[in-house]
Amino acid sequence: MAGSAESMGGGSGQARCPYLVVRDPEAVRDVLQRPADFSPANALVAVTPLEGPALRVLQRVRFALPPVLASNDTGTHAGTRKVVAGFFTPATVAGMEPRIRELAREAVQNAADQLATSGHVDLVQTVAAFPPAVVMLELLGLPVRDLPALKRWGLDSMELFWGWPDEDRQLELAHSAADFYVWLRQLVTESMKAPGRNLVKSLAEHGLSMPEICSLGYFLLIAGQETTTQLISTTLFRLLEGSAPENWQDAASETGARSVVRHMLATESSVPTWRRVAAHGTNLAGSRIPAGTEILLELTGNQITSPSGPGSQPLPGQADQNGSSNPGLGLVFGSGIHRCLGAKLAELEAAVIVQETAAALPGIQLRDPEPEWIRFLSFQAPKTVAVRNKPC
Ligand code: HEM
Repeated sequence: MAGSAESMGGGSGQARCPYLVVRDPEAVRDVLQRPADFSPANALVAVTPLEGPALRVLQRVRFALPPVLASNDTGTHAGTRKVVAGFFTPATVAGMEPRIRELAREAVQNAADQLATSGHVDLVQTVAAFPPAVVMLELLGLPVRDLPALKRWGLDSMELFWGWPDEDRQLELAHSAADFYVWLRQLVTESMKAPGRNLVKSLAEHGLSMPEICSLGYFLLIAGQETTTQLISTTLFRLLEGSAPENWQDAASETGARSVVRHMLATESSVPTWRRVAAHGTNLAGSRIPAGTEILLELTGNQITSPSGPGSQPLPGQADQNGSSNPGLGLVFGSGIHRCLGAKLAELEAAVIVQETAAALPGIQLRDPEPEWIRFLSFQAPKTVAVRNKPC
């Protein structure tokens, strides 16, 4: 998806890509490592400018995303990041493995039951959707509730900010984002007074205001779970389709599952691109980049395909667009001071859930080999992975 002018223009193929697309892994790394030159301030800006009616719906609930973490290019970023990182230390994440496995087994049992009663089941809804959301809320010390709504709101907000909704669709999505925000503010208010340690209290003690805590919560409740759901969905789909290097049986072992998840991250990650904006006039790979240039970084996918659409503007010297150097997992989670705080967690969750699914459902096949896909600027995955038992 990354790099196709059509997808970046909104499906019509008419609109010109507004981004300078950077694909060369060395140049991508350079951009990420120079936050003073290439600011993350546009990380959460709507790809499709929001129209008046949608904006009014958001304003009515005082929806705001002040820069706190992912889009923060000021000196306050480091301190806030440290607070959030305290909830995802390597030891905490490793200690969650038994809980992740327990949630995975419950989810897979549910899928097996549905398969037995109706003859088919969607692995996105039954297996991939909920465990990452439960794990994230538990790690943050927040109440685990309203999960179906949380999943719906997360996807709607991804579409509102990273998709190409027309005015009517924007309005629907804005209502969903407003509901999400009101729910979040209530959760933040309650969590401020709740006993024990939780992210909200830690952020408040650090000095963050209510709108700042809501802004961070909004990002984290989406980025911290829907991306992992999408990685699991793509991995399950490619395994069952037979296009992954491992087969379904291999994925039932711990090493097989880890290896296929790493392959999917490197070739078809749920977050294939990320944005930056030139903070001032600067240079990149020998080219002059004017102040304010919006940049789209290709994080993964170089090994498989890198179509250069008419709207994309590769940098001079990028002759080998298919990537002569293998980016591996080096850029999948970003790089530098904003590198993903959930990388280890996402990999662990995906590997455990894929493994448990392949182990418990050995005799399944795809029921729908051509599902619809989520295709937003920075997120991708099959919407469904519908399966049935193989005929004997
Ligand atoms: C497959 C799953 C995931 C992928 C592919 C992914 C990818 C990314 C990418 C590309 C960035 C931007 C990095 C940069 O600007 O240099 C990012 C940022 C971030 N991610 Fe993830 N992510 C995933 C899951 C998670 C999870 C599970 C969490 C939390 C538990 C999380 C928390 C964050 C945070 C907090 C940031 C912002 C960090 C900062 O600005 O300092 N992500 N992620």
